[in-house]
Amino acid sequence: MTLPKLLIATRNPGKRREIQQFLDDLSVEIVFPDDVGIYESPQELKLETESTFEGNARAKAEFFQKRSRLPTVAEDSGIEVLSLGGAPGVRSRRFAMVQPGQDEAEANNRELLRRLAGAPPDRRGARYRSVAVFIKKLDALPHVFEGSCQGRITTEPQGTGGFGYDPLFHSNDLEKTFGQANPEEKNAVSHRGRAFRALAKWLAENPL
Ligand code: IMP
Repeated sequence: MTLPKLLIATRNPGKRREIQQFLDDLSVEIVFPDDVGIYESPQELKLETESTFEGNARAKAEFFQKRSRLPTVAEDSGIEVLSLGGAPGVRSRRFAMVQPGQDEAEANNRELLRRLAGAPPDRRGARYRSVAVFIKKLDALPHVFEGSCQGRITTEPQGTGGFGYDPLFHSNDLEKTFGQANPEEKNAVSHRGRAFRALAKWLAENPL
C-alpha cells in the first residue's frame, strides 16, 4: 500500500530530526523539500519577513504547498526573552549577523549572552515558541498548531545536545538545559513537541 505523502517544509537538520519522531505513528510518508526536487532558491530565502511566527510559518507552508502540490506543514519557531522585549523572537535564526560559512548558532548564542551580560536571574526568563501551519491543498484553509515551553537563559553554555540555543535554555520542566537533555527528554516537554503532538493528533482524526 502506498502511503500519502506529507511534506515537511524545513531544511534545518535539528528540526527535521525532531519532527520526524513526532509524526512517526501516522500512516503517511514524510518527505522533505529536497526529496521532491525543491532545492533552496533565492525566493525562499526572502520568505521569513512577517512579524509573527504564524505569519512566517503560513508563508512557508503556502510557498512549499504551491510548488509541491502536496499536503504541507511548515514551522516557525524561536526563543523570546522577556527582559529583551521578546527578542530575538522571529529573528532567532538571524539574531547575530553572520558571514557565510560562520557558525550561526554559536554566533547567536554569543550575542544573546552579550545582551544579557550581568542580568540577574529574574531578568533571564525566556520561552521557546513553535507554530506549525498545515495546508492540505491549494487555497485550503490553513490549520495552526502552537506549543511553548518556559525556562531561563543560563550565563554560559551547558551541554552539547539539541541545536541552536539549547545549551543556553534552562528548562523549568526538566531543571536542566536542553543541551544537557537527551532527545526523548527534550521532545517530551519542548515547544516543538507540544505543537507537533497536537498536529499529529489532528491528522490522526483527519487523515490525508
Ligand atoms: P526558523 O524557524 O527556521 O526561522 O528558525 C528558528 C530558529 O530559532 C532556529 O534557527 C534556532 O535559532 C531557534 N530555535 C527554534 N527552536 C529551537 C530549538 O528547539 N532549539 C534551539 N533553537 C531553536
